[in-house]
Amino acid sequence: MKRPYVYLAGVGRWAPPRILRNDEFASMGLDTNDAWIVQRTGIRERHIAGPAENNRTMSAAASRMAMERAGVHPGEIDLIVLGTASPDHLLPSTAVELQAELGASRAAAFDICAACSSWLYGLIVAEGLMMSGSAETALVVGTEKLSSIVDWKDRSTAVLFGDGAGAAILRRSKHGKGILSTYFRSDGTLAPLLHRRAGGAAQPFDEHALHDRSFYIEMEGREVFKHAVRSMSDACDRALDGARMTGADIDLLIPHQANVRIIEATAKHAGIPMEKVFVNVDRYGNTSSASVPMALEEAMAAGRVTDGSTVLLVAFGAGFTWASLVIRF
Ligand SMILES: CC(C)(COP(=O)(O)OP(=O)(O)OC[C@H]1O[C@@H](n2cnc3c(N)ncnc32)[C@H](O)[C@@H]1OP(=O)(O)O)[C@@H](O)C(=O)NCCC(=O)NCCS
Repeated sequence: MKRPYVYLAGVGRWAPPRILRNDEFASMGLDTNDAWIVQRTGIRERHIAGPAENNRTMSAAASRMAMERAGVHPGEIDLIVLGTASPDHLLPSTAVELQAELGASRAAAFDICAACSSWLYGLIVAEGLMMSGSAETALVVGTEKLSSIVDWKDRSTAVLFGDGAGAAILRRSKHGKGILSTYFRSDGTLAPLLHRRAGGAAQPFDEHALHDRSFYIEMEGREVFKHAVRSMSDACDRALDGARMTGADIDLLIPHQANVRIIEATAKHAGIPMEKVFVNVDRYGNTSSASVPMALEEAMAAGRVTDGSTVLLVAFGAGFTWASLVIRF
């Protein structure tokens, strides 16, 4: 087992105030209803960013909360790793926009694009850079304005996603607390199951993309569901093995919040009862990179992660990518 080298010194969250309830989709012209969405996904509502809100503003709010809780000033941060699948601009990274917004003038900053696994990938990358001596105080952020890349005319995807941001400050571990094990993997052969065909260099945005709506998220929901359960189950096993633990040693499982049925199947596989699983997908929908840090912050605020808690984080996303960590708080 790896000795903990890095711990989470403070966690923050921010979600836009506008809440979109399931029963509002009908008035937006979508042939769907609350009962279908709740039964298939567990989602009841999601937060949607307004025109003045973007990843820079949302991630800055979440980061400031994490920094305040960790007692860290912007000038102390020497690394910003930001996960997003909906960057504010294609160039430069959203991480540098956050770096400027915070005034973190000593920080190296870059984005990670591993879709819904991005924040977990970010923790693993930041831990590695801290272990190698390249950084001492890292800010790891997950932020999404998915409402800007969702096709609001496609009922099979529009009902699933939401906006928000979460962040954590990472510092050198003390008293045996921190990251006990990590695991991350990918399988790019499955990319077409969940992607945006147009808008990048391979298929630049043009009139055709505008017409066929190929610059929005497209997904084979049923296939994604199967792979999500398989990969998140594998990731739980691997992180538990790495920490020489079983599901019985875990105080709280915080899975990526995409669909309550995926969460239930993952928890069952890991041998963790639902009382020990944190779920907030009902109130936020799938916020991709932001999902796990937002859930972690809510779990901490609710007193479900306390001093000494052993927590299993697991995520899965487009790519496909999947990742997991065991952390002692
Ligand atoms: C998207 C998802 C909820 C769809 O549930 P499902 O049980 O697989 O449903 P299907 O896609 O098979 O569709 C069943 C029917 O519901 C319809 N449907 C799809 N979205 C609907 C909606 N919002 N409201 C009402 N009906 C809908 C379909 O058109 C289909 O109708 P048909 O049988 O007449 O063709 C589910 O597949 C899922 O959650 N997948 C994983 C998605 C995910 O988490 N992605 C992110 C991973 S990080």
